[in-house]
Amino acid sequence: MTYQKKSIEDIAVAGKKVLVRCDFNVPQDETGAITSDKRIVASLPTIQYLMKQGAKVILCSHLGRPKGEVNPKFSLAPVAKRLGELLGVSVIMAEDVVGADAKAKAAALKDGEVMLLENVRYHKEEEKNDPAYAKELASLAELYVNDAFGTSHRAHASTAGVADYLPAVCGYLINKEISIMGQALESPKRPLVAILGGSKVSDKIGVINNLLEKVDTLIIGGGMAYTFIRAQGGKIGNSLCEEDKLDYALEMVAKAKAKNVNLCIPTDTIIADKFAADAASDVVAADAIPDGWMGLDIGPATLKAFQDAVKNAGTVIWNGPMGVFEFEKFAGGTKGVAAAIAESDAISIIGGGDSASAVKKLGFEKEMTHISTGGGASLEFLEGLELPGIACLEDK
Ligand code: 3PG
Repeated sequence: MTYQKKSIEDIAVAGKKVLVRCDFNVPQDETGAITSDKRIVASLPTIQYLMKQGAKVILCSHLGRPKGEVNPKFSLAPVAKRLGELLGVSVIMAEDVVGADAKAKAAALKDGEVMLLENVRYHKEEEKNDPAYAKELASLAELYVNDAFGTSHRAHASTAGVADYLPAVCGYLINKEISIMGQALESPKRPLVAILGGSKVSDKIGVINNLLEKVDTLIIGGGMAYTFIRAQGGKIGNSLCEEDKLDYALEMVAKAKAKNVNLCIPTDTIIADKFAADAASDVVAADAIPDGWMGLDIGPATLKAFQDAVKNAGTVIWNGPMGVFEFEKFAGGTKGVAAAIAESDAISIIGGGDSASAVKKLGFEKEMTHISTGGGASLEFLEGLELPGIACLEDK
């Protein structure tokens, strides 16, 4: 797989109609108000560059999962309004995606103007990557730019299909994501330390397997660590365990040994007598959890070992919390790992999802080299999978 894709700077865009796929899948409250505009802000560099170059900018995105039906609850109109405020110009909002209104507005667009199509998922053909729908979408423009990293693991009409009909390049956001994460996987500053957490081994099977080919140290924390501990004969009480993944866990332990990877699994753990913020708690050896108790966070000795590994790292990749950080009492491991990454001189890459929210919540955002804008997409990237929304772009 190549991470070197042509970008908007590699092609002439002046005067051209450019279809830009953004990830404007923003969170909203019950009244429809946008509660975080981070994804809109993240799209600005590409849009501003295209405007400045005199392109006619036609933006598109999905919002939520309207299941192929027109539903005002999922309208992108609030995004157009917020984007207009951020750009300081009015963003023309189309009433449809490939209907008469979108076509007329796209045809009338002047150089440097910006319009936004309605939710591409108003058509069921979008998620089916229907060629006729992709062709119709492509017919609005002369060039295609994908800048929706968070959706690049989907083979949909607007993320991949349109590239069959238009020259296709990436925007600044995707370019940054793939160059930083691609470099970490291909030619990292070593030692390369990956920290994986979260509750399920099954969510991270491909990631563990791929990272064991690349890293010097693999740290496993969070709920999924207990499957590894139990697989090696430990007593884990009522802790999370995926019985059908015990063999896989053993396979990964053996693979780590064969590849000379330093595999770090918790040695002590903070246990709770129930899954609740006010549970009684204690610190015990991670392989000797009493019956009726469950591990909800890594223990202090484990945290220290994980922090030491981070201190010496050249590059750190982190995906998934170390414990149930939503409960203050069991947030120490996640906080401690985040703080160690923030303090280290290592290149730090934070996968989207829970670890990205934890870093932001703890105020360490500025200390990190890169916080990915994609949850599912960044995981698939770390798995070494080819993302359809990136594979469809022209190689550099
Ligand atoms: C996301 O929010 O993770 C992306 O926008 C993808 O959304 P989806 O999971 O509905 O495809």
